[in-house]
Amino acid sequence: MRIGILGSGLMADALGGQWVRAGHEVMVGGRDRLKSADLAGRIGASSGSLLEASAFGEVTLLAVPAEAVSEVLTGGPPGRFAGRTVLDCTNAVIPGDFTLAVPAMAEQVAQLAPDAHVVKAFNLAPDTVWQDAPCTFEGEPLGVPFCGDDEAANEQVAVLIRALGCTPVKAGALVRARLLEATAALAIGLWVDGADTRSLFPPKAAAFGTVHP
Ligand SMILES: NC(=O)c1ccc[n+]([C@@H]2O[C@H](COP(=O)([O-])OP(=O)(O)OC[C@H]3O[C@@H](n4cnc5c(N)ncnc54)[C@H](OP(=O)(O)O)[C@@H]3O)[C@@H](O)[C@H]2O)c1
Repeated sequence: MRIGILGSGLMADALGGQWVRAGHEVMVGGRDRLKSADLAGRIGASSGSLLEASAFGEVTLLAVPAEAVSEVLTGGPPGRFAGRTVLDCTNAVIPGDFTLAVPAMAEQVAQLAPDAHVVKAFNLAPDTVWQDAPCTFEGEPLGVPFCGDDEAANEQVAVLIRALGCTPVKAGALVRARLLEATAALAIGLWVDGADTRSLFPPKAAAFGTVHP
C-alpha cells in the first residue's frame, strides 16, 4: 500500500517505520523538508512536502498536533483527499487536566476533508508502543480499535494494524471515534497518575454475566 504521512514527528517515525518494515511504500511529508528527509532516510521511506505526501498516499496518516490539523488539511488545493483514506491518530488532550480541547477530532477531520474516507485508529497507545511492534502483551497481540464509515477504508486500516502484529478491533462508525478520543484522555490521565489501565475492564464473559453461571 502507498502511505503518505503528514508530519515527521514521533508517530510518523513509529508507524511509518513499522509500515516500511512490513513492505509498504511510505512517503513522509512535513513543513520542514530537512526533518522529513532525515526521518525518511532513517526508516527507509521517501520524503516530500505536505502536499506531495497527501498526493502520494492511498492512505494518508494525519500525524500532526490537533491544533495544526485545520491548517494542514486546508492548506492545499480543494479535493486533494477525494476518495482517499485519511487515517486520524490525533488526540486533542489538554495537558495537565486530561480533558479534550476538541470533543470530536475525527469528525472535525471529516468536515475539513469532506470527500475523504476518515478512519480513527492508533490514538490509544503512545508512539513507544508502536515503535516496539510487534505489540504483544502477556502473550496476546494488542487490540487496536478503529472507527470509520467506509468499509474499504476500514479494511485498509485493518491491514495497517495487522502490519504491527496487532489485532484490528472494529469499534463502529466514525461518530464513535469521539469515544476513542475520550478513552485516550482518560487513559493518559490514569497513566500519569500511576494507574494501570490494563486492569480496568472485565473480560467479555464477565461483563455479560456468563463467568459465574
Ligand atoms: N506521540 C504519541 O505517543 C501519540 C500517541 C497517540 C496519538 N498521538 C497524536 O498523534 C499526533 C502526532 O503526534 P506526535 O507525537 O507525532 O507529534 P510530534 O512528535 O510533535 O510531531 C508533530 C509533527 O507535526 C508537525 N507540525 C506541527 N505543527 C504543524 C503545522 N502547523 N503545519 C505542519 N506541520 C506541523 C511537526 O513539524 P515540525 O517538526 O516542523 O515542528 C512534526 O513533524 C498528535 O495529534 C498526537 O496527539 C501521539
